[in-house]
Amino acid sequence: MGFGLGLNLLLLMAMVATNILSLYHLSSSQQHRSPPPPPVPDHLLHQLSTIRATINHLTRLRSTTTSSSNSAHPPPPIPPDLLLYTRLSPIASACRDHPDLLHRFMNYTPFSLCPSDHSLADSLILRGCHPLPRRRCFSPTPPKPPSSLPTSPFPSSLPDSAVLWSPYSCKSFSCLARFNDNLGFDLKIESARFVSSKSNLDLTIPQLLHIAKNSSSALRLALDVGGGTGTFAARMKLHNVTVVTTTMNLGAPYNEAVALRGLIPLHMPLQQRFPVFDGVVDLVRCGHAVNRWIPTVAMEFLLYDVDRVLRGGGFLWIDHFFCKGADLDKVYSPLIGRLGYKKLKWATGNKTDSKHGEVYLTALLQKPLK
Ligand SMILES: *[C@@H]1O[C@H](CO)[C@@H](O)[C@H](O)[C@H]1NC(C)=O
Ligand SMILES: *[C@@H]1O[C@H](CO)[C@@H](O)[C@H](O)[C@H]1NC(C)=O
Ligand SMILES: *[C@@H]1O[C@H](CO)[C@@H](O)[C@H](O)[C@H]1NC(C)=O
Repeated sequence: MGFGLGLNLLLLMAMVATNILSLYHLSSSQQHRSPPPPPVPDHLLHQLSTIRATINHLTRLRSTTTSSSNSAHPPPPIPPDLLLYTRLSPIASACRDHPDLLHRFMNYTPFSLCPSDHSLADSLILRGCHPLPRRRCFSPTPPKPPSSLPTSPFPSSLPDSAVLWSPYSCKSFSCLARFNDNLGFDLKIESARFVSSKSNLDLTIPQLLHIAKNSSSALRLALDVGGGTGTFAARMKLHNVTVVTTTMNLGAPYNEAVALRGLIPLHMPLQQRFPVFDGVVDLVRCGHAVNRWIPTVAMEFLLYDVDRVLRGGGFLWIDHFFCKGADLDKVYSPLIGRLGYKKLKWATGNKTDSKHGEVYLTALLQKPLK
């Protein structure tokens, strides 16, 4: 009967032990490099004693819970979603699963310039090691930054000299724009997005604002999930709406591009819980990055986290979600339907550039009051 609690505790202990292990690795590798072992830094000692206190606390918790569970009540079972979720995206301790990457990331000279290893950091983050451990080094800056930065979210160009290009094969924003129209770096193309609609799958910002106004729901704060170079945030800024864009730097400096437009980039992967409190945003937009490539259960966790951060009456905009035609009816429509949102728009269409009979869905949904 104590199985559930025991396993639960084991999980917690494993997480705590991982921390101890990584501290051990840190101190042992330090000792290898310099013959006289440097004193253990205060913050590590402090962290260690916090961990010990946690273990003590957990042990105390276990003995009291065990004794009380000896009476009529069996211990509560482990919530199945906790088990499921730890398999999908191990909580915090995921860094332990990739010691090679983690050791490379943490193998730097403290108090000097950090290595240029953004792609290494991204590799760790994508494997669930998020947040990354902090480091005590100086992040390199571009050698000749531009003398002025754009003030408009739609500048005619972005300054190349504001970016460190070494991780990327392109060495300028114009190279990225030439490379592929859809990456979001061609600002001429970007300035036309969300303004007019080519098909029923496009929801324009004027339409969005109209719908919001018609349902007397204020639009002030929004989250753009996987928002690339931040064009949605840029357009909404002109309507005095604050949009925070989550974006990664996969193959291109997306975070820098968003920031150079004077917008807020959140460097976080899709599988991470939004760093936003419950019920505080008016709108969440899920763009192209949210699609059938995300495992269905991970997708469910994502959508319920969207629900968590939306206020009652807030909007979920699923923009050009793509999947196989049959899966839309069998998997995704029921999944989205379970949210119980009011459908303000629901448009589907064939994805013409797809060989797999894929379809697009664009939906605008309103969260009910609970
Ligand atoms: C405005 O809202 C009403 C119901 O509140 C609805 O019947 C009407 O279709 C809406 N108009 C538009 C243009 O969305
Ligand atoms: C945005 O706010 C500014 C300053 O308050 C105001 O002048 C401008 O008209 C607003 N724009 C829109 C589209 O509401
Ligand atoms: C979409 O594709 C299916 C087959 O893949 C076809 O039967 C249907 O007519 C197409 N719809 C449109 C609007 O082109």
